[in-house]
Amino acid sequence: MSTASRELVVLLPGDGIGPEVAEQARLALAALAPEIVVDVHPIGAAAIRATGRPLPDETLAACLAASAVLKGPVGDPEFDAADVRPEQGMLALRAALDTYANLRPAVLDHVDVLIVRELVGGLYFGEHGVREDGTVYDTCEYHPRQVERIARRAFRLAQSRNRRLTSVDKANVLETSRLWRRVVNELAPEYPDVQVEHMLVDNAAMQLATTPEQFDVLVTENMFGDILSDLAAAVTGGLGLAPSASLSDGGPGIFEPVHGSAPDIAGRGIANPTAMLRSTALLLEHGLGRSDEAAALERAIEAAIVSTPTQDLGGTATTAEFGAAVTEQLSIDERAGAPYGG
Ligand code: NAD
Ligand code: IPM
Ligand code: MN
Repeated sequence: MSTASRELVVLLPGDGIGPEVAEQARLALAALAPEIVVDVHPIGAAAIRATGRPLPDETLAACLAASAVLKGPVGDPEFDAADVRPEQGMLALRAALDTYANLRPAVLDHVDVLIVRELVGGLYFGEHGVREDGTVYDTCEYHPRQVERIARRAFRLAQSRNRRLTSVDKANVLETSRLWRRVVNELAPEYPDVQVEHMLVDNAAMQLATTPEQFDVLVTENMFGDILSDLAAAVTGGLGLAPSASLSDGGPGIFEPVHGSAPDIAGRGIANPTAMLRSTALLLEHGLGRSDEAAALERAIEAAIVSTPTQDLGGTATTAEFGAAVTEQLSIDERAGAPYGG
């Protein structure tokens, strides 16, 4: 059990299927640790509708003061052509919390890949604009310090796993990738127990699709990591299963699914809440240091995947039925006198 005096989780349900999967996460948290305070705030399209802004000041202030942030996906086709967009809210939140290290685990059978994605630099945060002649540009920018801190994080994670690190770049074309490769090579002697390889991103996509079991930790820049993490999710059971943890060097982390707001199925109560629930387990582990509860939640999710699969897994269960199977399993564990230890 945690010794923290007051643990405050800020829950940002988000848009589309976000509120549907967030509700299951809230119920699971309440079943596991009712003493944790959960404070709900809008972000994304929901926040634009309520306040005109995708990350209202109140939401940001609450996140900055939280122990950890649990976030649903944002995005709504209604704002696709708008100047103020839901996704700007989450990018601003990631930047404000400096959650530069985005951990995206993809695990199934003999595959166990951890994608470590740089989250607050690169093409998403470089200069954007329109030149006089009408040319539109986004620039990919990295400072060596930004590469160093994410590379060090990835080396340390590799040390805690199978000690293999694949650094993914496009060094045959891009200056930022050549910087990336140089920094990784310069750091490598400090982690002699880690076996490092470099891989070009196009080949990495092919290798992930065909032989994902070859990878342990994969570290890469922001946009490559965005794309490769959807691919890694696809080869390990689908987007409905893939969680993530976005960590800084001390402040609150953001825990959120890899998937988006899924407008194609929103409002029907059929989304798979596993990615959100697994993100909740990552929050318990990395955000609150509650490893026992995290393990209990992971076990309950595994049981529900087998007993109560949702449509994306070939079953018929609704979001709420899946969530109920999880909380039921948690209470069986507790009654069996194995509260969260296993
Ligand atoms: P998406 O991830 O929302 O959906 C892709 C496909 O996967 C869809 O067919 C969807 O139905 C399915 N899917 C996703 N999550 C699922 C779940 N939990 N259960 C069952 N099926 C699921 O990607 P998209 O359609 O390209 O994007 C929709 C919106 O989400 C966009 O506005 C985008 O910007 C946003 N988005 C947000 C985040 C985030 O907030 N972290 C991440 C990705 C995309
Ligand atoms: C993700 C999403 C976001 C990203 C978008 C919605 C800004 O795709 O978290 O993977 O690209 O980071
Ligand atoms: Mn993405």
